[in-house]
Amino acid sequence: MNLKLLFFCLFLAVLFIPAELKRKKHKHRGNGDGHGHGMRDKKKIRYEDIIKDFFFEIIDRAADDDDDDNEQGNSDWLFELQEPEGQCNPNPCFHNGICKEKGKRKFKCECPKPFKGKKCEKGRKVCRKGRCGRGECVLTSTEPFYQCKCKEPFQPPDCRTISLCEPNPCRNGGQCIRDGDDFDCQCPPEFRGRFCHVGPDDCFVDDGESYRGNVSETDDGDECLYWNSHFILENGADPFSSYEDSDGLGHHNFCRNPDGDAMPWCFFRRGRKLLWDYCDMTPCPEPTGVVPTNILPIEPQPPSDAPQSTTKPTAPEKPTEPSKPTEPSKPTEPSKPTEPSKPTESSKPSAAPTDTPLFPTNSTPTQQFKTCGMAQSKTAITRIFGGLKVARGAIPWQVSLQVKPRNSLQPYNHICGGVLIASCWVLTAGHCIDQNKDMQVVVGSLSLDYIEPTAQTVEVERAIVHENYRETPTAVYNDIALLKLKGTDGFCANETQFVKTACLPDTQLPDGMECTISGWGVTETSDYGSNHLLKANVLLISQEKCSEPKVYGSVVDNSMFCAGYLQGGVDSCQGDSGGPLTCKPNNTAVVYGLVSWGDQCGRKNKPGVYTQVTLFLDWIKSKTGGAFP
Ligand code: ARG
Repeated sequence: MNLKLLFFCLFLAVLFIPAELKRKKHKHRGNGDGHGHGMRDKKKIRYEDIIKDFFFEIIDRAADDDDDDNEQGNSDWLFELQEPEGQCNPNPCFHNGICKEKGKRKFKCECPKPFKGKKCEKGRKVCRKGRCGRGECVLTSTEPFYQCKCKEPFQPPDCRTISLCEPNPCRNGGQCIRDGDDFDCQCPPEFRGRFCHVGPDDCFVDDGESYRGNVSETDDGDECLYWNSHFILENGADPFSSYEDSDGLGHHNFCRNPDGDAMPWCFFRRGRKLLWDYCDMTPCPEPTGVVPTNILPIEPQPPSDAPQSTTKPTAPEKPTEPSKPTEPSKPTEPSKPTEPSKPTESSKPSAAPTDTPLFPTNSTPTQQFKTCGMAQSKTAITRIFGGLKVARGAIPWQVSLQVKPRNSLQPYNHICGGVLIASCWVLTAGHCIDQNKDMQVVVGSLSLDYIEPTAQTVEVERAIVHENYRETPTAVYNDIALLKLKGTDGFCANETQFVKTACLPDTQLPDGMECTISGWGVTETSDYGSNHLLKANVLLISQEKCSEPKVYGSVVDNSMFCAGYLQGGVDSCQGDSGGPLTCKPNNTAVVYGLVSWGDQCGRKNKPGVYTQVTLFLDWIKSKTGGAFP
């Protein structure tokens, strides 16, 4: 994960930046007649908010050019600590850098502009703080590799000077009205938005995947960030390469749905946090036999240097902090997990169902699960720091293990992750098993609080915990179990685009390899875990390093291994146990580890510890009796 180390440095850096964004409540909308268009009364950013926002501080700093170089020094050191030297396979260079072997042990990355650094991981120096005055710095692919998007009434090129209504920032015939040191756009009746940039037909159809309109504010009135904002990249998301459908994305800040969510959404910023939320928009009325006019036929005008809109941050009642991730410092004792009080069903809508047939493989049981380790969906979605929202079908072997008191009528609760390795067999951690509980697994689902149409729920017939499973106050040994699912004739889970098996590994993999962990476990922002399946990439850490005194010392044995980042930050956590750590040695995902334990989560020198699946291959085969290819 190219950006993680930078996050870490950035994280340290921002610790020293004081000031939270102060929010002011304002009563009126720029539009003047927003109510008439069904929009809620929201706050908008005014001149005074902009100048108070530490993010837009005017900084004169010619001398900070070496800031990044210092960070770089740190991260190189970390890279060396954790990764094998001298290998171009897998390619250690980020951003399509070309790797050249130098001697046996070294490599050099040739970086495409504007990326730099040992692994081309640095690319954001062009947008250093203060570069754009009172404006957002966005990255471009041509010299000088950035552009400033000024907050009205600040003006290009560097957003440091003010000009009210001159030129007129209001679009579509909107009239610019001065109001002290601020302005409002008075829009023609059918237009809305701070700049009258949202037209009357600006609505979305279905899940809004095809939406190409101009709405650029969230449900709560936060202004969307440009998709190419350096702030997004800096926080680990690269919309242009993360999403399957980046067609609608561009150098604009309009709401889009590139990742199969329920409706268009966008990133926004609160203080120094990158957040996302659904947008303030409405579905188009049902077509009445007429071709809908709701989808604008052309990509909206590239924004002028004036911002598309500058709505204000809103009341803090509804935190829109994304459900996410892993930079947590939550405890993760290796003890039996306690049941989190997260019901597995609720009325919160999740992403809209897909059009793809859910059971496309009209096949007989024997034709099923013939190949393992191949996900159909290519990417995960980065929306937040340190964790990635998983795209539908991207981790189709992920299982949610759920339990309830034996024979009770209580609902099942998620307790652990698991990995589907055959139609009727799931691998999980030994410490996840409580033989006194009823157990079921859910496969094919991303959400825990909503039964998705792609989900399959299968009862567990029996759980087999490894005979040498052992727990001590500091570690868990041989932490592996098999769940035999209920079904007939070896047919339990049904293979679909969203339900597939992971392969078993057949060899040891090299230290430093990047692998993927996933789960619904505890995150920095949610003590009960995430409702949406999340993933993160981690590096395999050598046994030697893992058993150093400052890491886990002599408690580590060969039934486990460490993976993660010694500098902390990205990790699995409580509730992820039993879930997969998969690696792709030959483009095929093998379940190389199972989330097992760790000393809290995301701490420095305390990476996650995973069950070493390769050690248990014979055990798995003997218990399942060759249930899979
Ligand atoms: N024992 C935890 C569970 O039951 C998993 C902990 C993983 N901890 C870590 N730091 N990686 O879910």
